[in-house]
Amino acid sequence: MSFADVTRWVERFEAPERAVWQRPAEVIAALNVQRGDRVADIGAGTGYFTLPLARAVGEEGVVYAVDDEPAMLAHLKRRAAHEHAPMINAVHASARDPRLPERVDLAFVANTYHHLADRRRWLARLRRGLGSDGRVAIVDWHKRRMPIGPEQAMKLSARTVIEDMRSVGLRLARKESFLPYQYFLIFTPTRS
Ligand SMILES: C[S@@+](CC[C@H](N)C(=O)[O-])C[C@H]1O[C@@H](n2cnc3c(N)ncnc32)[C@H](O)[C@@H]1O
Repeated sequence: MSFADVTRWVERFEAPERAVWQRPAEVIAALNVQRGDRVADIGAGTGYFTLPLARAVGEEGVVYAVDDEPAMLAHLKRRAAHEHAPMINAVHASARDPRLPERVDLAFVANTYHHLADRRRWLARLRRGLGSDGRVAIVDWHKRRMPIGPEQAMKLSARTVIEDMRSVGLRLARKESFLPYQYFLIFTPTRS
């Protein structure tokens, strides 16, 4: 799927009615981000979650807005400048590597995990970019028929995501259930 037509995706992703089911303020609150944190918003898209994450980490923090689509990255840079959010840094990922510039406290992956071509290899790379207490949060579509969301065949079940994470040493630490169409899972490194 191409995300190069930014105008089209801004209309879709930034539509005011999205907040009814996406509940961005509640999602950000549940992430429990601290001021000064280093956060990666992977598959940042138009910056729907990037801007509130930037407000949560504050000027002493960092938000890496990671995407593999150059047109989205150009849009994110313009938006960060326009919103006076210097803590946002655009990162050009490859399809198989999020290319995090440093270890992060939180990797947030919203509506993107099901797009990955080689999930386990990608996750192994992501895992290396996590700090010792680094968390991974996944928001993605339930694999059931719903009035909105991607085609059924594209979706991944929460169980598949949990198994993928386990394969790279991440365990499910918390599960939020307030989103009507999506699962919201938070993983932490497995302690041995
Ligand atoms: C459906 S959008 C989600 C955007 C945003 N997270 C949101 O919820 O509004 C998916 C985004 O992930 C990006 N993407 C897809 N595969 C990617 C990959 N392997 N690495 C980084 N970004 C990717 C796309 O370019 C697109 O901007």
